Amino acid sequence: SKGSDFVVVANRLPVDMETSADGSTRWKRSPGGLVTALEPILRANKGAWVGWPGVPDVEVEPFVEDELELCPVTLSEREVADYYEGFSNATLWPLYHDVIVKPVYDRAWWNAYVEVNRRFAETTSAAAAEGATVWIQDYQLQLVPKMLRMLRPDLTIGFFLHIPFPPVELFMQMPWRTEIVEGLLGADLIGFHLPGGAQNFLYLARRLAGQVTSRGSVGIRSRLGSVQVGFRTVRVGAFPISIDSGDLDVKSRSKAVRDRAKEIRKELGNPKRIMLGVDRLDYTKGIDVRLNAFRELLEEDRVDPAQNIIVQLATPSRERVESYKAMRGEIEQQVGRINGEYGQVGHPVVHYLHRPIPRDDLIAYFVAADVMLVTPLRDGMNLVAKEYVASRSDLGGALVLSEFTGAAAELRQAYLCNPHDLDSVKDAIISALEQPAEEGRRHMRAMRRQVLAHDVDRWARAFLNALSDPPQDSQATS
Ligand code: G6P
Repeated sequence: SKGSDFVVVANRLPVDMETSADGSTRWKRSPGGLVTALEPILRANKGAWVGWPGVPDVEVEPFVEDELELCPVTLSEREVADYYEGFSNATLWPLYHDVIVKPVYDRAWWNAYVEVNRRFAETTSAAAAEGATVWIQDYQLQLVPKMLRMLRPDLTIGFFLHIPFPPVELFMQMPWRTEIVEGLLGADLIGFHLPGGAQNFLYLARRLAGQVTSRGSVGIRSRLGSVQVGFRTVRVGAFPISIDSGDLDVKSRSKAVRDRAKEIRKELGNPKRIMLGVDRLDYTKGIDVRLNAFRELLEEDRVDPAQNIIVQLATPSRERVESYKAMRGEIEQQVGRINGEYGQVGHPVVHYLHRPIPRDDLIAYFVAADVMLVTPLRDGMNLVAKEYVASRSDLGGALVLSEFTGAAAELRQAYLCNPHDLDSVKDAIISALEQPAEEGRRHMRAMRRQVLAHDVDRWARAFLNALSDPPQDSQATS
């Protein structure tokens, strides 16, 4: 075949291979916001998706699953340890999230990252038709734009970073900072969630990469800046990601979801107020922060444990990485401690699940929750905050939202808090619990207007339109 005209490249395929006890395999949906955001775009564009099937050593030919064309990239056990768990999630992830835990710089991990990025570039090159558009995703694949351009100068290449791009001072720690910046500069368009990230990158490109001159800046007035790399113009911009908000809105109105929401409230013993957290179990998400805030509120008698409960749904994530194991232990200890001190037999105050939650059930939890707790220490966007808002077609509920999320730039009517300041989190929780009904509806209506108008489709179109736009003549605008 001659290949696809549109190719999405991401570390993970939208489905993971799962092996059951009897040795049979099946495909199940992958975790995380990236897949949630991109799956509808790939369907609409009838493209191919290049990615890893989520388990080591599976060698499968390209195949079609649920009408998606999937091109698997094989990773060995060693590469899963060094490229995925190591460089991607114990070096880049903490470095790009404000060094909440200390990044580990390991030469063998870096070598595996280079090697695996090369394999992704080669698989993509084989999957893409002449003149195709290729859209590379996220921090695991920052070298692919340059590698792919060397193999296939005919392609139009976009790159989007789904996590924060760090402040210049932190990025400068990276021993392979020049290679990463040059890797990204292989793209025609590089997208970030926020203007600040784009601005940081423009500065670093000027400072670190050879043969680069930069023009413009990404700010309130200009959405796109650019750098000149030799004869090529690379554009850099802010494209805040979103969700399929229309779909959630419709589902939240269905009888099935509304009935399930009532059932959930009943199962929980019909408490006056249900607070909800929904996260991958990750130290960036501030699950510990909200639990600490809740415990202090109980301790100070500002919240009645007979009337107010927390449901924390935590999806297992990166379980072999040390810092994730440590965080899980801490959170489970906190849950046990709070229930030990404030729960009753048969009536815990913190309900905690550590397992994947089916999508439809999740929407029912959003509808059932009086207060949504989104308290990350740092988060590129946080799609859960937007999903909650899109699910509240009844205009009920309140959102407690960390200022350190990309979503806080858009959801200004949330109860915003600084997760490093426990008093600010506690005050936001109290305000949300006690919000007058009419004020709550007004806030929710304003947030819903934002989320329903700026959905994931609009995000993808904005990025892909900018990517297909011929770059302006560098002389004319300087
Ligand atoms: C975040 C990242 C994604 C990643 C997802 C799940 O959303 O931006 O790139 O796929 O987390 O993490 P995992 O390591 O399981 O792929």
